[in-house]
Amino acid sequence: MRLSSFSFEAAGVKTQVVVGEGALRGMDARLGRIAPGRWFLISSKKIFNLHGSKLFAGGVESLDPKPLFVPDGEAAKTWSVLGRLLQELVRRGLRRDGGIVALGGGTVGDVAGLAAALALRGVPVVQAPTTLLAASDSALGGKTAVDLPLGKNLAGAFHAPRLVVVDTSTLETLPPRAYRSGLAEVVKTSMLDAAFYRAMARLEAPLAAREPGAVADAVRRSLGVKARAVARDPFERTGERAALNLGHTLGHALETASGHRLEHGEAVAWGLLAALRLSVTRGGLAPGLAEALAACVVRLVSPPRPSTAAVRGVSALLHADKKADRAGLRAILLARPGRAVLVRVETAELLEALEGALGGYN
Ligand SMILES: NC(=O)c1ccc[n+]([C@@H]2O[C@H](COP(=O)([O-])OP(=O)(O)OC[C@H]3O[C@@H](n4cnc5c(N)ncnc54)[C@H](O)[C@@H]3O)[C@@H](O)[C@H]2O)c1
Repeated sequence: MRLSSFSFEAAGVKTQVVVGEGALRGMDARLGRIAPGRWFLISSKKIFNLHGSKLFAGGVESLDPKPLFVPDGEAAKTWSVLGRLLQELVRRGLRRDGGIVALGGGTVGDVAGLAAALALRGVPVVQAPTTLLAASDSALGGKTAVDLPLGKNLAGAFHAPRLVVVDTSTLETLPPRAYRSGLAEVVKTSMLDAAFYRAMARLEAPLAAREPGAVADAVRRSLGVKARAVARDPFERTGERAALNLGHTLGHALETASGHRLEHGEAVAWGLLAALRLSVTRGGLAPGLAEALAACVVRLVSPPRPSTAAVRGVSALLHADKKADRAGLRAILLARPGRAVLVRVETAELLEALEGALGGYN
């Protein structure tokens, strides 16, 4: 078992990050160091059946053996699931000297994190992500939320985890499409850090082959880059965290317009390809670099083409945003690997870049 670990502090909260195969073992001591009382596990039945035993291997006294289950996927992120969790946590005896462990993908992490922020006015949360997206991105940074009928993530809080434990062996059961989709966030993050970008030259092939050592290395580097941005801008106020949204303006719109037929990472991959094109004309990125980066996105994620209706839908979504129409949009572009810039762009430019990306890589 080879684990790597680092800590960082943001807004007065220290977060420890542990990454490696078998990282879920020995949780008792880790939980005890954070809070001495009773801990409760939130997961989905599917994920618990796959990986719950790893958490209890070796005996975990402080963690209640009966998990609280949420529905699988986005259905976990509702007001009613959150209310039920809060009621159940208090009924089962959660106290302020205890805490919550979230075992699952980004959806479990988001709703469990919000439950931890609200229960008894806030108890510690430990994030144990099991998807590549959650492991390389969403588990760290303290954003928690549920969805409202009006849209995604509209009710939430910042509640930083005290510990992020990525047991990379849990990622081995991810279906190929979910794994490749998660790689989109990894590639995006590698563009934002010069050292990670250089490392991608040797990491790309083993990542494509799902070699555990490379996956662990990429997760650790991704979380390191995100931790540095979060430490400087914990509440996304100064714009430092905004760079992490590279490719996401179009990505989110495309994900919605496709009726979620495109996975988040696949939509982000198209957003990245468009952002790279626009980075050449508006961000000063060298064309050769843009080509090389785009080719890496395509090789690792191989995003399926969105339907014509979905692409038309993106245009409608961006145009429907009156504010965006008047003032244009603020897009994150890349000047060079490791250097993102915030540029005001017209909606039409974004759409043209997306059309270009779709035309260029099929
Ligand atoms: N808080 C943040 O900063 C942040 C950032 C990005 C995204 N998000 C949120 O994350 C969510 C998406 O997260 P996600 O992509 O992890 O999706 P998810 O949590 O819905 O998981 C996707 C699917 O993978 C399954 N799964 C999870 N782990 C598995 C494993 N090890 N093996 C096999 N199957 C497994 C799940 O059961 C689910 O069916 C969205 O709700 C998004 O809003 C949050």
